[in-house]
Amino acid sequence: MSSAGIVEPGIPLKEYAERRNRVLRALKGAVGVVMSGDGAPPLRGEWMPNMDFAYLTGIFTEPGAMVLFDGGNPDPKKRIVLILKPVNPEIDVWDGYRDLISEKLRKDTGFETVLRTLHLPRMMTEAAKRSRKLALLHPLAAYNQPVSADYEMMQKVSARIPGCSIEDHSDLLTEMRMVKSAAELKQIRAAIKATAAGIDRVCRVIRPGIGERELQNELVAGFQSEGSMRNAFDPIVGSGHRGTVLHYKANNQMTADGDLMVLDSGAEINRYASDITRTLPVNGKFSKEQKKLYEVVLKAQTAAIKAVKPGATMAQVDAAARKVISDAGYGDYYPHSIGHHMGLETHDPGPNSVKLKPGMVVTIEPGIYIEKDSIGIRIEDDILVTETGSKNLSSMIPKTVSEIEAAIAKK
Ligand code: GLY
Ligand code: MN
Ligand code: MN
Repeated sequence: MSSAGIVEPGIPLKEYAERRNRVLRALKGAVGVVMSGDGAPPLRGEWMPNMDFAYLTGIFTEPGAMVLFDGGNPDPKKRIVLILKPVNPEIDVWDGYRDLISEKLRKDTGFETVLRTLHLPRMMTEAAKRSRKLALLHPLAAYNQPVSADYEMMQKVSARIPGCSIEDHSDLLTEMRMVKSAAELKQIRAAIKATAAGIDRVCRVIRPGIGERELQNELVAGFQSEGSMRNAFDPIVGSGHRGTVLHYKANNQMTADGDLMVLDSGAEINRYASDITRTLPVNGKFSKEQKKLYEVVLKAQTAAIKAVKPGATMAQVDAAARKVISDAGYGDYYPHSIGHHMGLETHDPGPNSVKLKPGMVVTIEPGIYIEKDSIGIRIEDDILVTETGSKNLSSMIPKTVSEIEAAIAKK
């Protein structure tokens, strides 16, 4: 049986190990776990791990797995441990064959110690008895959400060991994930390049009367031509009135002469996302009215991108775009916020109050949606925060009125 491929390609094994070492150092001997999450691969769709686990391991296909951090363990090889569910041939025949614990599995995963989940209760108890400090790494849940499985487990452990407390380290992985490494940026750039190929294909075939689904198929064929194995999210291909529905997904109507079409999509490469929106005139030419509105959104987007720099917050960036749109009289038609962090997830974690830092990647995506006029316009790019300001990673994709009209005309 082969575990070749247990770790997703794209990020070197060494980098995963460095991420884990960083967590270990930050916990200063407190015992932490990061769980992959439960469940079985569904028939429709794909099982997805907790992305903090994926970020630390590159493993996307192991439900019920976890990384244990035990910095005070006298055996240095047991300070960071990968814990996997036991191999079960009767289950694995359904979902994929898995390696027994072996030198190969340790080599493939980059962990010096790989154990099975049956050892967890003993290991947690031993570690907690020694350190009396547990570390919650999972983001804190809202009161109407379930308590996370790791926190529930830690509450049980600490209830059984006098003087054992639980420290809050719930921001650590979000802070780490917000700043992208060179290897991560390489994947994001590749995902953007694949999205650009998809949008180019749409520009070549778009015309009144073509179906939204046909355009989606062209889009995704373009992604795949650049090596994308999956979409970062379900594409939004909404023409006319559907363009005013922010998360429209049916993509099953016909386009019509005079419609604008909101095309919001992203290819994924090696599990890293892209997220780009372009608004295209179905017949290849913006009308005078459409152009006027488009220019407002573009001006708002330009102002917001300009506001992206180290030290700024997304709230400030949002305000820059919102001012342009409000000053033009369309404040009530911009119902969402300016954007979000992007990486392993299309919507990566990252609070609005965080001060931007070099290496962060955010989307900038203002829009105006006027339902009664069946007109929706959104423009979205993926922006890297740099030492001096920002770099638009998706600037190669046609965006101005003249660039878009030229891209459609060249078909
Ligand atoms: N398509 C979802 C977003 O742009 O955030
Ligand atoms: Mn989007
Ligand atoms: Mn977005």
